[in-house]
Amino acid sequence: MKYNKLGRTGLEVSRLGFGCIKFREETQKNVTEALNLALDSGINFFDTARGYGPSEEMIGQAIAHRREEFYIATKTKETGYKEAIRDIDISLKNLRTDFIDIYQLHSISNKEKWDKAVNSGRGSLQAMLDAQRAGKIGHIGITIHRSLENMLRATRSEIFETIMLLYNIADEENVGEEILPRASRCGLGTIVMKAVGGGRFAEIYSAQMGNKPVPERDPVVEKCLRFVLANDHVSTVIPGMRNAKEVAENVQTECMKPLEPQEHRELMEMVGERTGLLRYEQRCMQCKYCLPCPEGVEIPKILRTLAFLKSERIDNANAARVASSVTNGPELCIGCGQCNEACPAGIDIPYLLKDGIDTFREASSCVE
Ligand SMILES: NC(=O)c1ccc[n+]([C@@H]2O[C@H](COP(=O)([O-])OP(=O)(O)OC[C@H]3O[C@@H](n4cnc5c(N)ncnc54)[C@H](OP(=O)(O)O)[C@@H]3O)[C@@H](O)[C@H]2O)c1
Ligand code: SF4
Ligand code: SF4
Repeated sequence: MKYNKLGRTGLEVSRLGFGCIKFREETQKNVTEALNLALDSGINFFDTARGYGPSEEMIGQAIAHRREEFYIATKTKETGYKEAIRDIDISLKNLRTDFIDIYQLHSISNKEKWDKAVNSGRGSLQAMLDAQRAGKIGHIGITIHRSLENMLRATRSEIFETIMLLYNIADEENVGEEILPRASRCGLGTIVMKAVGGGRFAEIYSAQMGNKPVPERDPVVEKCLRFVLANDHVSTVIPGMRNAKEVAENVQTECMKPLEPQEHRELMEMVGERTGLLRYEQRCMQCKYCLPCPEGVEIPKILRTLAFLKSERIDNANAARVASSVTNGPELCIGCGQCNEACPAGIDIPYLLKDGIDTFREASSCVE
């Protein structure tokens, strides 16, 4: 097992961590076995939350007696001071410890939540600072979905020491390009959730196998993890695991090489076929196989902008920011079709570019 420094926390964490969200569907016996195997295999970073059902209690029961062997991160969804203090005390009790290594603000995914939790002076961040001073928690982190604005705010803040982000081969939130490099440059430890698409990409292989018994470990999950592990801006990836089999397989994967170009392409194709499942219905996965375009058209960025604009869940400011970084827009496309042949997701690129000219122009003129 290799270890990375978790940003300015200075903690040396296993680059394969353990996401503990799935325990509510498992028996204590299986969870105890999985967590102990993880520790025996060198995993020393476990992530849970007040909101993950019995997860904290199950961890406490399974491995509290080995407390000096691991770092524990948990989180609260509360934004108010009193409620967060209460959550911290409950977490300590559930985890059977007197110290939590990282306490995180959970899913601060819009400006309103940021203002309540971070800016109000009486929010959950203040509760964490007080708990830190009282010696109950070591470091303060934040987890964010969708709001690139909040992610950028977190990278500028000096209080947060870790940031948890959704990142995988589909990179629906543009985190690989926009946030991870910046966060690691700013000294934040980067914790990657949803490397397997929240489990959706683990369905690809079983669907391929149909009714046949699955004879071997899931090669799609393996590739998904290798993709994330190869990114130097990632401190630790925390796949959700729930039994010893998954732990053993993922530990084996951790020491494998990054994806070869052919494997990367195959993974893109498989995930591309399933993109109907993707939350933002965004089919372009930013692999850049379509580049270079002979006319210099910046295809992936343009398609990213158009996908952001279509999504109800992503703020238009994100689209404007990506659009404004494009020098060679969709109007330069001459429809030669070269890019279509290269695209593993089967996107009709010239059609989308032509269709999106006006929308794209509008987006790039909206930058603040
Ligand atoms: N901050 C937040 O708001 C937030 C939100 C979500 C998650 N998280 C954290 O991030 C962690 C990871 O996210 P996630 O669990 O939602 O998504 P994930 O890691 O992308 O996917 C987890 C799923 O992948 C499958 N899997 C993992 N290893 C496997 C293997 N070797 N073979 C076959 N399948 C395998 C499991 O499916 P099966 O269940 O079918 O076995 C598991 O449920 C969570 O555990 C949690 O700690 C944080
Ligand atoms: S079809 Fe358009 S975008 Fe694609 S390679 Fe040709 S000029 Fe470039
Ligand atoms: S258009 Fe196709 S080839 Fe180009 S980045 Fe998107 S998915 Fe990859």
